[in-house]
Amino acid sequence: MCGIVGYNGRRKAAPILIDSLKRLEYRGYDSAGIAVFNESAIEVYKDKGKIADVEKTLPEITGTVGIGHTRWATHGKPNKVNAHPHVSGNVVVVHNGIIENYEQLKDKLTGSGYIFVSETDTEVLAHLVNYYYKGDLTDAVFSALKDIKGSYAIAVLCGSELVAARKDSPLIIGIGSDENFIASDIPAILKYTRKIIYLDDLEVATVTPDSVSFFDFNKQPVEKKINNIEWDMEAAEKSGYEHFMLKEIHEQPKALHETFAGRISELEGNISLDGLNLTETQVKGIPRISIIACGTSFNAGLLGKYLFEHLTDVHVDVEIASEFRYAHSSPGSLVIAITQSGETADTLAALREAKGFGCRTLAITNVVGSTITREVDGVIYIRSGPEIGVAATKTFVSQLGVLYLLAFYFGKCKGKLSSDSIKRMLASLKRIPAQITRINSNKEIIRKYAEKFSASNDIFFIGRTFNYPIALEGALKLKEISYIHAEGYAAGELKHGPLALITKNTPVIAIATKGLIYDKMVNNIKEVKAREAPIIAIADEKDTEIEKYVDAVIKIPATEDILSPILAIVVMQLFSYYTARARNCPIDQPRNLAKSVTVE
Ligand code: M6R
Repeated sequence: MCGIVGYNGRRKAAPILIDSLKRLEYRGYDSAGIAVFNESAIEVYKDKGKIADVEKTLPEITGTVGIGHTRWATHGKPNKVNAHPHVSGNVVVVHNGIIENYEQLKDKLTGSGYIFVSETDTEVLAHLVNYYYKGDLTDAVFSALKDIKGSYAIAVLCGSELVAARKDSPLIIGIGSDENFIASDIPAILKYTRKIIYLDDLEVATVTPDSVSFFDFNKQPVEKKINNIEWDMEAAEKSGYEHFMLKEIHEQPKALHETFAGRISELEGNISLDGLNLTETQVKGIPRISIIACGTSFNAGLLGKYLFEHLTDVHVDVEIASEFRYAHSSPGSLVIAITQSGETADTLAALREAKGFGCRTLAITNVVGSTITREVDGVIYIRSGPEIGVAATKTFVSQLGVLYLLAFYFGKCKGKLSSDSIKRMLASLKRIPAQITRINSNKEIIRKYAEKFSASNDIFFIGRTFNYPIALEGALKLKEISYIHAEGYAAGELKHGPLALITKNTPVIAIATKGLIYDKMVNNIKEVKAREAPIIAIADEKDTEIEKYVDAVIKIPATEDILSPILAIVVMQLFSYYTARARNCPIDQPRNLAKSVTVE
């Protein structure tokens, strides 16, 4: 995610801002910048690339108040103009989050004479605060925030005034002696202070060298508690989690929230997919889709096939990207490349092949400005933020989030989904982040079973229809990080051969959520049970029947049949994580696996 720092004190601000930003580097970023009030004016230094590169361009700056930012692009390419801080007259802003109504605000501000130079949503905030500024920065920030829809953590500088605010994006205040700090995460300022105040949603803080005043959204003063941080630096980087993978599994509700931000209005049943670059009429005319992807992204694509074919009349092929070049695609097809990194060589080669066939192309990716985004006709960003663990977790869940939106949108354009069904499904989709949080808070039971079976040589994962891709992804995740041999199967396929491998020493994880094929899934579970294999079922919390057929049940919240995969996968990720942990595997850097595979 993006990083924010702020300083107001008696020391030179620039070295402290740069040092604090470097302590957030582990989170990943593509550009960086600082702004310091230096004697009579604010000076801004920013660029694409590393913090050290910005540092090299700094002259001697004596100013003692400033803000800084590391950016992970979500709106607009990673370049100097889009890097934060953003400036409007004397007002300078850094921002994490997404301003959902920035297009409307931009139109309004353009009408009032403001000129926009970047492609970011943040620039709107700088102009808005400037628009309302009448001599008191805190007042201007309050007025601006009343106009904003979306999520934000911000630090705003105007002259020597420094103000911070948050909604749905973390921000903390560090209390020092004759100096105070702002940061999006504790490691940024842990070197300078252990006294931390957590800003709550819709709170605003005015930060001076000697004091910090807190206000609620009605501008009433708020008393805040100071927390003393006991963690060391390494633990702080992982926010107290033992591994980045576990941290990222817990970040999935937030990642999904970002994936959906500004794209769903469930009351009207509307979906808006910035970057799709297809009119409703064009969508209506698409007869066929080819999805190309590798590894985890392929498994997301396979779920995409089930979704599109269930919700629309479009035929979908899913191809492993490295094999696609040997297949054929018809020129009328839409080819969708799914890739978290946007750099996978196999996917890029397949995409170029598809363009050679004359196909229209769309990318679903996490990395703004990555190679694949520069070669396609449309891009939908999944907005997961940087993923440090090599094994994909939150990017997979956000890929699914985008695929749901895309399939609903196609179903709507093609007249296959009624407005009521879309509204119902969007409302259920919006509940998913909170349901994932519930699964995460139930992780002890998953840990218990993972540890119990962690000495197994082979583990099977089975599922049907929408949950078949999740069985594949569960097996892939386990292989990648625990090095246990694992197979994912469509449950109905076991009897055609693989049952030969099922014995009392082969644990089987069966996804058996209530839905179209529940009874068939129960039959497949019985086939496995007859071979004495220990079975763990992943089932709906209201299912009281499944206990009869299996050895253990992990319950997940009930949702629409087609949405159950995005919950079931969280159980699989936690199961893989705790299995690998029990086997002392290097979870965040598993052997023979790279975050971005740029060779064919
Ligand atoms: O960046 P991509 O999504 O294109 O990467 C494709 C695969 O290399 C990737 O999904 C790999 O399987 C992951 N490390 C899985 O955890």
